[in-house]
Amino acid sequence: MTDAEGFTAGSMSAANADVFATALDRQAEMDLIRDLREWCRSRLGLRPGATAVDVGCGTGAELLELARLVQPGGRAIGVDANQPMLAIARHRSSGIPGVEVVAGEASELGRLESGSVDAIVCERVVQHLTYDPVRAFREFARVLAPAGVLAVTDTDWSSARLVVRGDEAATEYLRELREKLPVRPLANQLAGLKLEEYCVAAGLEVVARRTGTLGNLAAALLQGARDGILALAAAHLTPGERDEAARTLNAVLDDGRLELTVDLYAVLARRPLAHS
Ligand SMILES: C[S@@+](CC[C@H](N)C(=O)[O-])C[C@H]1O[C@@H](n2cnc3c(N)ncnc32)[C@H](O)[C@@H]1O
Repeated sequence: MTDAEGFTAGSMSAANADVFATALDRQAEMDLIRDLREWCRSRLGLRPGATAVDVGCGTGAELLELARLVQPGGRAIGVDANQPMLAIARHRSSGIPGVEVVAGEASELGRLESGSVDAIVCERVVQHLTYDPVRAFREFARVLAPAGVLAVTDTDWSSARLVVRGDEAATEYLRELREKLPVRPLANQLAGLKLEEYCVAAGLEVVARRTGTLGNLAAALLQGARDGILALAAAHLTPGERDEAARTLNAVLDDGRLELTVDLYAVLARRPLAHS
């Protein structure tokens, strides 16, 4: 998978952020995303008065759920590296008690004191990290209180399957189109498969894991990426090729025959009582 959808953390424009937020909203309605979020949330041990952090909070949807669990008296802190996403999260959480939305980078949560956080959620962010993700996991371990819990979820993009239902020729055409366009790969395509390794390298104890295949992601993700893909096609293909790409992509997206499936992994890890 690629970042044709344009959510590289540092570079997203406000217009891209709106498109991306719509895509995240659609994904939030998908069964597996809801299921994994509930599975994680119910194991964080959050109580009123606790402090929870959502790293890479995006639109803030899960942040609001965390806020509900820690009220009254607790804090739910959303951190994101992208200013337009922060603006959306701030807008959606304005007036909700205990919620803070702050600019920050996963590997530098400097404003959070060591050992001050009861639970961290980090969903589909590690795939975007352009440096060794263990740096971010060490930072999570630093800010977690003893026995504090990290719930981290991510994608294995190597499992992605793009299919036009009932149309092998169109499926093959789209695979070839993908090869022709210089789309930048995500920084960490195998993130989902490596979550446990990162936890262990950062000194966290893995306590539970769950996986599933995200059903049809095409509507939720590629609809939003359509303009970006067609802009790449316009820049890199001949006019004839570009028109064919637009015709095919629009047709299979609009009639719902394009299917994209991908595997997701969720891992729960605990900071040991004695953490070096
Ligand atoms: C795929 S979205 C997921 C958003 C949200 N966690 C969700 O599951 O709906 C990835 C989010 O991580 C943020 N992000 C990417 N790299 C980051 C980094 N290094 N530090 C903090 N946030 C980052 C992006 O700005 C974006 O909001």
